[in-house]
Order: sequence, then C-alpha cells, then structure tokens
Amino acid sequence: MESKKQDEDVEEPLLTNTGSSSSHKPSLIQSLISAMSLITAITFAVLFFSLPSPTKSTTRPLRKLPHPVVILISSDGFRFGYQFKTLTPNIHRLINNGTEAQTGLIPVFPTLTFPNHYSIVTGLYPPHHGIINNFFTDPITGDKFTMASHESKWWLGQPLWETLANHGLTAATYFWPGSEVKKGLWTCPEQFCKHYNGSVDFEDRVDSVLEYFDLPLHDIPVFMTLYFEDPDHQGHRVGPDDDEVTDAVSRIDSVIGRLINGLEQKGFFEDVTIIMVGDHGMVGTCDQKLVFLDDLAPWVKIQQSWVHSYTPLLAIWPTGNYSSRDVAVKMNQGLSSGQVENGNKLKVFLKEDLPWRLHYADSDRIPPIIGLVHEGYKVEMSRTGKKECGGAHGYDNAYFSMRTIFIGHGPQFARGKKIPSFENVEIYNLITSILNIKGAPNNGSDAFPKSVLLPNA
Ligand SMILES: *[C@@H]1O[C@H](CO)[C@@H](O)[C@H](O)[C@H]1NC(C)=O
Ligand SMILES: *[C@@H]1O[C@H](CO)[C@@H](O)[C@H](O)[C@H]1NC(C)=O
Ligand SMILES: *[C@@H]1O[C@H](CO)[C@@H](O)[C@H](O)[C@H]1NC(C)=O
Ligand SMILES: *[C@@H]1O[C@H](CO)[C@@H](O)[C@H](O)[C@H]1NC(C)=O
Ligand SMILES: [Zn+2]
Repeated sequence: MESKKQDEDVEEPLLTNTGSSSSHKPSLIQSLISAMSLITAITFAVLFFSLPSPTKSTTRPLRKLPHPVVILISSDGFRFGYQFKTLTPNIHRLINNGTEAQTGLIPVFPTLTFPNHYSIVTGLYPPHHGIINNFFTDPITGDKFTMASHESKWWLGQPLWETLANHGLTAATYFWPGSEVKKGLWTCPEQFCKHYNGSVDFEDRVDSVLEYFDLPLHDIPVFMTLYFEDPDHQGHRVGPDDDEVTDAVSRIDSVIGRLINGLEQKGFFEDVTIIMVGDHGMVGTCDQKLVFLDDLAPWVKIQQSWVHSYTPLLAIWPTGNYSSRDVAVKMNQGLSSGQVENGNKLKVFLKEDLPWRLHYADSDRIPPIIGLVHEGYKVEMSRTGKKECGGAHGYDNAYFSMRTIFIGHGPQFARGKKIPSFENVEIYNLITSILNIKGAPNNGSDAFPKSVLLPNA
C-alpha cells in the first residue's frame, strides 16, 4: 500500500513537467530495477505490517465517558497565523498534542460568517444549505433573510444537531448560526440550546459547557458547540495587524485554557474531542483600495436597487428589461477599459460562469451577477470621501488571507500530527465518524475522516 502511494506521488511532478527532458519510455534495465524495488517494498511491507508496531498509534480508549463527546469551538475571523501573533500556550497545547491543518482550514465561498458556519455543521456548499450570504432576498416570495431569521424555510440541509436528534442522541449548542432553528427532530430544547446573545461573557459560555459534564454520564450531550465573536470583531474595526487583534487572540487563548482546565479538573480532558476552528480569515482594507460602480456609467448605469450586496461579495440582480448577460458584459468592458479607477481589481461573472471550484451557482437565491474583487479591495456605489481603514473577509476562498485554523484534539486524533489544508465541508463527516453515526448526504468526501483519524485499536 505504502509503495503504491509513493509511486503515485512520484508521477505527479512528471505530469506537470512538460517537455523538460526527452522521452520517458523506460529501458529494460530501468523496468527491471523498478520491478525489483517493488518486490523489495512488498517484502518489507509484509514484514512491517505483520509485526506488532509500537510506534503505530490507534484510537485511545475512553477512561471515564461511556461514549465519545465532541466540543466544536468557533473563534470568528481567526485568520490562519494568528496563533503565532503572541504566546498562545493553550491553543498550542491542543496543537502540539493534537492534529492541525498545517497551512490552515479553507473556508467556502463566499468567505462570510453565516455561509461558513452553516457549511461546517452541514457539510454542504452554500447553494445546497441555502445560506448563500449573511443577508439575501428570496426571489420568489421577496422575503428577506437576515442573521436573525430563525424560520426553518431558509435553513436547508441537515445540521449536526438534527442528525444527532435523528439518532436519539443529545446535542447542546452554545451559539452557532442555525442552531435556534427548529428542524426535524431538533426542537432547540431550552436546557441545551442557547439563544444568541452577544453580551454573554466568553467565560460564562465556557462555564455553561463545563456544567454539562456534571450531568449523569449517560446524559452528557455527545456534541456541543461553543462560539466566540472575537477576533473577527476587532479585525473588522482595525484590520488584522493591529495590536487590538493580538489582544483578542490572547483572550481567546485564555478562554480555551479555561475550558481545558475545567475538563482536566473533572477528569474528562483526555476523553473529550475538542475541534477548534474559525469560519474565515481577515485582510486589511484602506481608503484607496476602492472600486466605484458609478464609474461604470458610460458603459452601464448600475441602479442601486439592483445591488443585493456590495462588498467583498458583489451581487447584482438587474430588473426591468435589462438582461443580466448584457449588464455583465458592459460592466467588464468598463472595468477592463483602463479608464476606471482600480477597474482591473474587479471582474464580474454570470453566476453559472464563475470558476467551478467556488461552488456558487446552484441556487435561485444567488443573484445572477457575482463580482470577484481582489483581496483588500472594496466595492462602493460612489465616492463619499470617507477615510477609513479596517479589515474585511468574503473574498475568493483561494486567498491565503481568508484561511482559518483547524485543530483536532482527542482520543481519535494523533498527537503532533500535521495534515494538509482542506475545505470546511469535510468537518461534518469527520464529526459523524468520531461519533460513529451515519450522517446525511453532503459535499464532504467519505475518505476524509479515515485519512485524518486514528484507526481503531
Ligand atoms: C501530551 O500527551 C502526553 C501523553 O501522550 C501527556 O503526557 C502530556 O502531558 C500531554 N501534554 C499536554 C501539554 O497536554
Ligand atoms: C444577554 O446577556 C447579558 C449578560 O449576561 C444579560 O444581562 C442580558 O439580560 C441578556 N439579554 C437577553 C435578551 O437575554
Ligand atoms: C420593457 O420593454 C417593453 C417593450 O419594449 C416596454 O413596453 C416596457 O415599458 C419596458 N419596461 C421597462 C421597465 O422598461
Ligand atoms: C453537494 O451535495 C448535494 C447534496 O447531497 C448535492 O446535491 C450536490 O450535487 C453536491 N455538490 C457537489 C459539488 O458535490
Ligand atoms: Zn465570521
């Protein structure tokens, strides 16, 4: 198995390495040599796998809990790399004794709070879970979705708490977008479902989660969420490089420490699985990095009522006799003319023409014209002369600045392991695997949990 994988790895650069050397047709001698090394490798593999291996680790047995328990923590806007801004001993304790996405967790597009939090708990791309922006309008009814909309019609897919309810298991949500929505067997029960209130101290949130561990062992919820608004809050106001953000990171580290210490005192720390993530990153924005839609007037006059969101996700829905295709073509003519300030920093697409990797077309809720703006740039209707610098997110998820963190710590995560970056739609299957239940169909891959989690003993 090992040798096959290595062979595949060797072939990859060859595929991309075009024309640098002559023919790759192997000579007889070369074929013989590779056949011999294959035999050696197989012999070695047989020997290796038939001996008991003390270094190969497996799932660690639970000492106290009767079943696995997962605590899913989100620190909003925790850009990948923030963990190095200052000393973060508690986060590093999870990293060093757990499994980390070495170059960060990749958010879904658009890299906004609600779409991403809901992708994490459903395993679905936004068109399939329905939360395609933090706010949007239903094109059929005209109803408006906001971050305070708790009617189930908006929230498609099956979030983890509903999956658990379907399996007769208990979940407890201390804030998470969508958690207050009654869906299927999930009724947002009073004892285990907190209604969003941003004024509750982070410490109180942690203490409430710790209290669940004082319940009789079989009543401890098997899945818990914990949400913190920071450091997103500071990142927007002052940009990612300000010392206010550093302080916010420090504070998040200390509430993580409070959770770890509490679990340790109760004797559960090594039994519990902690998954710490963010929803997206953050990038600095400033005065001169602006594109104005009014500047496109010589090509096409964009009406204010067409613009469903400006920035960083530009979403336009022309009405009346205007065809979306014509509007998009004319906008791009203006943007690429060289006569529009920062025009080369924005490109618009009919949603069906967006790069496929963004998975942002397959929903009536998505307006027909979507703009992709370069990181750090913002789109506005007209010049206001306002001077302001801050931070933003929502850009193409290919930007490194939009990445966030993934750390898994617990009995099924290897200690000190680094894994390649992956998209957050994989997390749903990861959690259902840890809890050993069958989840709903989603956009994560079946192979992912096996590639990350320790094998059973
Ligand atoms: C890391 O795990 C080992 C057990 O393998 C344990 O002895 C050690 O205390 C842990 N370190 C921290 C910082 O939790
Ligand atoms: C929100 O939490 C704060 C702090 O705990 C509390 O004083 C306030 O009453 C809460 N608001 C609501 C609407 O529950
Ligand atoms: C659309 O075009 C039709 C036919 O050309 C015209 O009668 C109608 O007034 C136009 N509507 C708008 C909103 O411009
Ligand atoms: C995502 O999952 C949904 C629901 O299972 C499915 O309809 C859709 O085709 C999937 N999309 C991708 C890109 O995998
Ligand atoms: Zn966010």
